[in-house]
Amino acid sequence: MSDTNDLINLFPEDDAVPDDFRHGPVTEQRDYLVNGEIRQWPGALLPVVSPVCLRQGTHVEPVLLGHTPRLDSRTAMQALDAAVAAYDNGRGAWPQMSLSRRIDRLEHLLAFMREQQASLVCGLMWEVGKRLEDARSEFDRTCQYIADTIAELRRPNQRDDTVAAEKGTLAHVRRRPVGVVLCMNPYNYPLYETFTTLIPALAMGNSVVFKPSRFGVLLLRPFLAAFQRLFPAGAINVIYGKGRETVGALLASGKVDLFAFVGTYRGAMSLSRLHPHPHRLRHVFGLDAKNPGIVLPDADLDNAVRECLAGTLLFNGQRCTALKLLFVHESVVNDFLEQFCRGVDAMKAGMPWESGVTLTPIPEPGKIGYLNELVADAKAKGASVINRGGGDHGASLFRPAVLYPVNPLMRVYQEEQFGPVIPVVPYADIDDVIEYVTDADFGQQMSIFGRDPVAVGHLVDHCLSQVGRINLNVQCQRGPDTLPFKGRKDSAEGTLSVSDALRVYSTRTLVATRLDEGNRKLVGDVVRNDQAGSPDVTSIL
Ligand code: G3H
Repeated sequence: MSDTNDLINLFPEDDAVPDDFRHGPVTEQRDYLVNGEIRQWPGALLPVVSPVCLRQGTHVEPVLLGHTPRLDSRTAMQALDAAVAAYDNGRGAWPQMSLSRRIDRLEHLLAFMREQQASLVCGLMWEVGKRLEDARSEFDRTCQYIADTIAELRRPNQRDDTVAAEKGTLAHVRRRPVGVVLCMNPYNYPLYETFTTLIPALAMGNSVVFKPSRFGVLLLRPFLAAFQRLFPAGAINVIYGKGRETVGALLASGKVDLFAFVGTYRGAMSLSRLHPHPHRLRHVFGLDAKNPGIVLPDADLDNAVRECLAGTLLFNGQRCTALKLLFVHESVVNDFLEQFCRGVDAMKAGMPWESGVTLTPIPEPGKIGYLNELVADAKAKGASVINRGGGDHGASLFRPAVLYPVNPLMRVYQEEQFGPVIPVVPYADIDDVIEYVTDADFGQQMSIFGRDPVAVGHLVDHCLSQVGRINLNVQCQRGPDTLPFKGRKDSAEGTLSVSDALRVYSTRTLVATRLDEGNRKLVGDVVRNDQAGSPDVTSIL
């Protein structure tokens, strides 16, 4: 493992960056959104540095893209207080607005987003190193998610808004917002993970404080003005800065009703336990995952290799759903590894806009050091890097390291690498794999590669209670968004899909009475006067 010139040479000189994909001038962002006002932060700033470097000869320099405000806890609290006031115990303009008017605002937001396509895609490439086709796909799936949410909101039977006559009781059941939602997104999907949280939270009438991740942050700046224009003051507030200097105070105040967080289990726990009334705080968490890929002796190896390559290495393995540990039966492990390493060696590294690249610069500054540590630890305990140039690095580029044979004593067997290191464990007895899945702290997804229904069924039976999704002969993934996305154990809290998310960010409440003619008329009159949207009740009232 070494810093290698061939990787350094992949970084472009300034004039080699295509005109269509040049980043704009350095942005000194001081603005943040509180209570419908775009305010200017006079204090310290945080630099936003691209994983993409520019080269002069043999020297490479990361590109400074701009700065964002390093808000303090007092300013973050102003955002939270604005959200609390806007919610006004459920009596605020946004939670009281009719569903059709809320949908109208979301449609305008979607139209605005569509206008931003070019700058958002470019921002994803420069800020998080996402390759062009994945940046475009993230943009498209985010727009689709918003469109699907709007369609879902329009389906009357999905609104849980109903009047029911049940066993002598007349009840008007409605979905109401939860209250004030604090949203924090991850850097790997700055657009998609942001809006799959914000949209259902806002759609259901909650007010929101949103703090973007430290990478993939400048690209969201145009939304400040759109949020200001489309939503009542305080319904959405956007803050910036370091988590421990801002978000801790918000949770400690006890004023947050729902904490939506995608990140590490440790981060989620240390923040949520600051809330003085933990039982009142709802969670929507997407946390660590160590998804195994399990190759059975009769697997279609061509397919297994193809899916494992994509599953481990798309976006350099920086996906929560990436395959992070491969178990391969000893009878096929040599053939598998030969093909797999050939596939890894054929992967092109380069800049995000270059055609045919898979491996791109990595945004987290400490990540390459961490990956080196995992590789060194595994080597010291008996594994080798078995692919050509595996573990070589140059500035922010890291050539994937396939580690074999990996055993439970190695850090990479337990830790979520979230990067291009692929540990391969040979196994003889499937019960050893089942034991790993059962004992693991995390249980998001797994992939099984095999054809024998008895063997596959045996594994499915044992693992269904351990993970949120079992994928057969395909890599792990979140989509399509109409299916539930969840995790078991320490991997997640809450089930997300387009329709499930609307439930997660709301709660059902009811007004109930004894069923008689007087009450029937009373409930009917109340429902007809309800400003926030009434169900079709003619059949009952
Ligand atoms: O990183 C977590 C993403 O939500 C996973 O989405 O499976 O489509 O990459 P993906």
